[in-house]
Amino acid sequence: MTVVVLLAILAAVSLLWLGWNLTFDALWQPTDRVTVRRILLLGEVGPSDHVVDLGCGDGRIVVSAARDFGARATGVEVDPCRVLWARAWVLLAGLRRRARIVRGNMYTHDVSNASVVVLFLSATANFKLQERIRKELSPGARVVSYYHPIWGWEPELIGEARDGYPIYVYRMKDAA
Ligand SMILES: C[S@@+](CC[C@H](N)C(=O)[O-])C[C@H]1O[C@@H](n2cnc3c(N)ncnc32)[C@H](O)[C@@H]1O
Repeated sequence: MTVVVLLAILAAVSLLWLGWNLTFDALWQPTDRVTVRRILLLGEVGPSDHVVDLGCGDGRIVVSAARDFGARATGVEVDPCRVLWARAWVLLAGLRRRARIVRGNMYTHDVSNASVVVLFLSATANFKLQERIRKELSPGARVVSYYHPIWGWEPELIGEARDGYPIYVYRMKDAA
């Protein structure tokens, strides 16, 4: 009986969690390893960069940016389960000094200290984020968006992911 009640509670919590996830502008879908590397190469990420992955999922882009490219990296994620997972990954990889995972809303996260912003979201999310990103990023900063373009922005180049989908690279210019 107790087991049945526990299973019912677990099923209800899982359904609520899934339902809540469906309200996000971007559902979780992890980027494959080869594409993660291409995203960071196209963004010209190096040790002097601060990479911010808005909607970081399990933190794979954050981990790779810090571990393989020597950058400082921050991931912003709204889902607490993925935040825990990503923090555990950062910890196990020994990257606590260079990488951090913030539990928060990407729509309100300040990216002014980033030199590279990574997006793998949706057309809607990119549209909602674009004005703030443009205001906050400094000239020379790059925005790398896998799969979805940012409408109205002119990409500096378009790369190709392992699955054949585009990776758009934008470079911030002087406001003048
Ligand atoms: C397509 S996944 C990309 C995950 C990761 N960047 C990658 O490439 O593997 C989008 C992620 O954005 C997160 N997300 C959606 N809306 C968000 C919001 N408002 N604030 C922060 N994260 C959000 C989702 O929970 C999901 O993990």
